Amino acid sequence: MTLLDSLNWRYAVKQFSNQKVTKAQLKQLLEATRLSASSYGLQPYKIIVIESLESRKKLIPFSYGQEKVAHSSHLILFAIQNIVGDATVDRYIDKHAQMLNKSHSELSRFSDHMKSALAVKSPEQKQEWAHQQAYIALGNLLTSAAIMKIDSCPMTGFDNEGYDKILGLKEKGLATSVICPIGYRHEDDNQAESPKVRFDYNDIVMEI
Ligand SMILES: Cc1cc2nc3c(=O)[nH]c(=O)nc-3n(C[C@H](O)[C@H](O)[C@H](O)COP(=O)(O)O)c2cc1C
Repeated sequence: MTLLDSLNWRYAVKQFSNQKVTKAQLKQLLEATRLSASSYGLQPYKIIVIESLESRKKLIPFSYGQEKVAHSSHLILFAIQNIVGDATVDRYIDKHAQMLNKSHSELSRFSDHMKSALAVKSPEQKQEWAHQQAYIALGNLLTSAAIMKIDSCPMTGFDNEGYDKILGLKEKGLATSVICPIGYRHEDDNQAESPKVRFDYNDIVMEI
């Protein structure tokens, strides 16, 4: 399949079958997601994989009736850091120093620059910024899954606070951003036959 074939094949699945994504496929998909770009490379989120049916069933009451959070192969959840700030940068600088074999003093200007860029944002803007980074990873997950012929459904139709509570995320310094059940489409999912509703190329792509 070409890239465009894969992207046309992908749709937001309404009903999944009970077929499981293999461990190896899941690992590859998560690895592709881990490689996502992010602002300054700061990756202010975790990618949480929930396979346990028992745990996922507890999320159904907080999913506005969308049972696919449990009735799919796995639920992938993007959770942003509750507090974005100097610690977000320090963690990244530690890794950067290690990967590029540099000292912290060599990276101090870079570190200060990132810290000042974040410091001028309000707490709400920092959260918004972190959500934006999580959404880039979500987009990458969707495309990578499509190329791998794994189905998915990006979802914001759920109660964030309910999820955080059930999964104990606040205690971990995290807050749910966006979720995505993955698996394989059910043969009864008529949505698969629906044509894509997209604005025409010349309507959405502007050349200036
Ligand atoms: C951020 C985001 C949140 C979404 N939330 C839901 C959701 O809660 N439930 C659902 O069934 N689809 C959800 N969708 C899927 C969209 O409705 C779907 O992507 C859009 O209608 C385009 O259709 P397609 O993805 O099938 O091509 C969401 C999509 C995005 C990007």
